[in-house]
Amino acid sequence: TLNECGIIDFPKILDPRGNLSFLEENKHFPFHIERTYWIYDVPGGEKRGGHSFKTNQEVIIALSGSFDVVLDDGVNKKVFSLNRSYYGLYIPQLIWRHMENFSTNSLALMVSSTVFAESDYERDYGVFLNTKNGK
Ligand code: TYD
Repeated sequence: TLNECGIIDFPKILDPRGNLSFLEENKHFPFHIERTYWIYDVPGGEKRGGHSFKTNQEVIIALSGSFDVVLDDGVNKKVFSLNRSYYGLYIPQLIWRHMENFSTNSLALMVSSTVFAESDYERDYGVFLNTKNGK
């Protein structure tokens, strides 16, 4: 459910030469990392996502710029505005999500618990709702 979604605060090493953040699977992650991918060059007004995963868990980081992640567990919706490169948004499986309001030159990094498999996607919102409601 949405209660399981939340912000991971990664370490930040503040430095007059420029700041540094990092993540380690065993220290900062609730899952074993199998893949990362990133979304960039998003034209103004475009949305990404619009699906849930059956098993894949993710952490989304706004490495650069800002965007909103809209989460939906089939009952409630919640919007997380990501605008700091040291925040990660944890999303468990079976949460519908889309991303919108990308700023110019924003860079979204996704860290995933599974390798890519189209069969792990649910892209039909009606089917998603039925699954959540046990139909
Ligand atoms: P998709 O996950 O639908 O994009 P969004 O982030 O907007 O939800 O992926 C778009 C396309 O890219 C789709 O055809 C599958 C392909 N793709 C891969 O081949 N490997 C990957 O790791 C990902 C995330 C997507």
